[in-house]
Amino acid sequence: MLIRYKKSMEKIAMGLLSFMPEEKDVKKLTGTIRAYEENENWQLYLWKENDDVLGAIGVKVDEANGEVIVQHISVNPSHREQGIGQKMIHDVRENYYSDYQIVANELTTSFLSKCV
Ligand code: COA
Repeated sequence: MLIRYKKSMEKIAMGLLSFMPEEKDVKKLTGTIRAYEENENWQLYLWKENDDVLGAIGVKVDEANGEVIVQHISVNPSHREQGIGQKMIHDVRENYYSDYQIVANELTTSFLSKCV
């Protein structure tokens, strides 16, 4: 299930986000996690199965345009190709932002185009 990020999950969230090609640098990664903690319109969700956190999806809500931009999406390498990435997109769309258009940015467009 998809749950909202909490500060207590910071390390696991950073570990997952670090699989994004643009988040390899620790300073960049720290800035990204801070942005999710501090900006009201940046929201990070984690995919949890039993007690394991296996994926992360980060979005920016653009109220003015009725859009939710998927900025980051990542799954633990040991659990890929099992549909978790697609389930996270599905849950974000259906359970959190059903009134919004879900769109990609340049970092996530390749995977999101597979999910429509
Ligand atoms: N671009 C396009 N398609 C991709 C992809 C990518 N970067 N990565 C995986 N896929 C495809 C797989 O080839 C597979 O296709 P198939 O169903 O035709 O065989 C499908 O997505 C697998 O879907 P699913 O099992 O739901 O995805 P996942 O749980 O393995 O997670 C990612 C997919 C992208 C989140 C995961 O590969 C990942 O964490 N990658 C590293 C982080 C990253 O690069 N994120 C940005 C992606 S644009």
